[in-house]
Amino acid sequence: MNPVRIGILGLGTVGTGTLTVLERNAEEISRRTGCPIVVRKAAVKHLSKSRAPIVDRIELTDNPWQVVESADIDIVVELIGGEQPAYDYVAGALQNGKHVVTANKELIAVRGNELFEFAQRQSLVIGFEAAVGGGISIIKAIREGLAGNRIQSLVGIINGTSNYILTGMKEMQASFDEILKQAQEKGYAEADPAFDVEGVDAVHKISILASIAFGIPLQSIENIYRGGIGEITYEDICYAEELGYRIKPLAIAKHAEQGIEVRVHPSLVPHQRLLAKVDGVMNAVLVTGDAVGRTLYYGAGAGSEPTASAVVADLVDVVRASKTEPDGRVPPLAFRPGPASSCPMLPMSKVVSANYLRMHAINQAGVLADVTKILGNHEISIESIIQKSSGVHEDMVPVVIVTQETQEENIAAAVEQIEDLNTVVGRIIRIRINELS
Ligand code: HSE
Repeated sequence: MNPVRIGILGLGTVGTGTLTVLERNAEEISRRTGCPIVVRKAAVKHLSKSRAPIVDRIELTDNPWQVVESADIDIVVELIGGEQPAYDYVAGALQNGKHVVTANKELIAVRGNELFEFAQRQSLVIGFEAAVGGGISIIKAIREGLAGNRIQSLVGIINGTSNYILTGMKEMQASFDEILKQAQEKGYAEADPAFDVEGVDAVHKISILASIAFGIPLQSIENIYRGGIGEITYEDICYAEELGYRIKPLAIAKHAEQGIEVRVHPSLVPHQRLLAKVDGVMNAVLVTGDAVGRTLYYGAGAGSEPTASAVVADLVDVVRASKTEPDGRVPPLAFRPGPASSCPMLPMSKVVSANYLRMHAINQAGVLADVTKILGNHEISIESIIQKSSGVHEDMVPVVIVTQETQEENIAAAVEQIEDLNTVVGRIIRIRINELS
């Protein structure tokens, strides 16, 4: 049995994990594929950097093209992340007749449409399970396990770093920055942590999942609504608890009658729901299909070996697929090329949700009346109000209002008007509520 020869681009957290898993589980893996998988070469940025002993057995280069163009490599594993230069290397690998496995969600979300088309023309395969949900195999579950369903919705926690930060703030009453630093030290965060906390990473991932679930092309990232967790304070976490909710960084894709919604933002989730109990770096995706009903996929969404688990699973899949006629392979985005779903994308302004609003108001008669009048003028009903003495500045009080469901355009206009009141100080924090019902 000739071994399948792998070249890796990038030996960071995931690359080193991939070497470790391939070596430790070599026997089981080759019983699954029918042949050994061996890493022949790896490209790294700094040859002189000290590395785990497992790397000593691999030939290293600081020139990625020596991997991409090597005649001794069958599959290129791209683990450098980002759109460029990763795109050039992946396109180069395909041009050189090599299958590709990547953990790069940005690359797939932004350039996937063209890369898949190119790979298909070359009868090559691109595996990207590690791009979403680390080790939980959410892509395979939707693409293959639920292939008999009309998928209705996906609601997930798919950025481990944001979840880790919100969980840490709650449990340790620590600051946002302290917990972010911990996430970076553990290798969960993106090179630019703004990608995690501002929702960019989750937008890339939900775009990929929505495409696989609904049979639509990968959407332009700019068209997906994105809200980050940067404005959420410990105060909000406590108010949410008092109201019976946890704040979770959700990514949502829904196929509703009026259109397809794809969005990323923090949400209040009832504390008894399973998603509310997904803490730390863990990821989970609740997928609802017409036949299966609700299904939940849970596991480590980032980290060395959990992500390597998905990379290696893709290697196994690619080895199997390479022995199959191209027409018999699983389409990368679940649907065979052809007419996409005709359902339009729903603009964010038409999305409906209940809302949590927190503001600081001057403690004087009539202030709440002004605020509730504005909400009423926009046909927004109030579910509950909390107003407490601040204990510090007696002339100012924090006010929390929970609204009933309303369209985004109504609540956005109302919030703007309330912020303009002389009796409301500073910006209003608005967090959408998702009852997950
Ligand atoms: N930064 C990502 C996260 C890593 O925190 O989820 C996994 O994609």
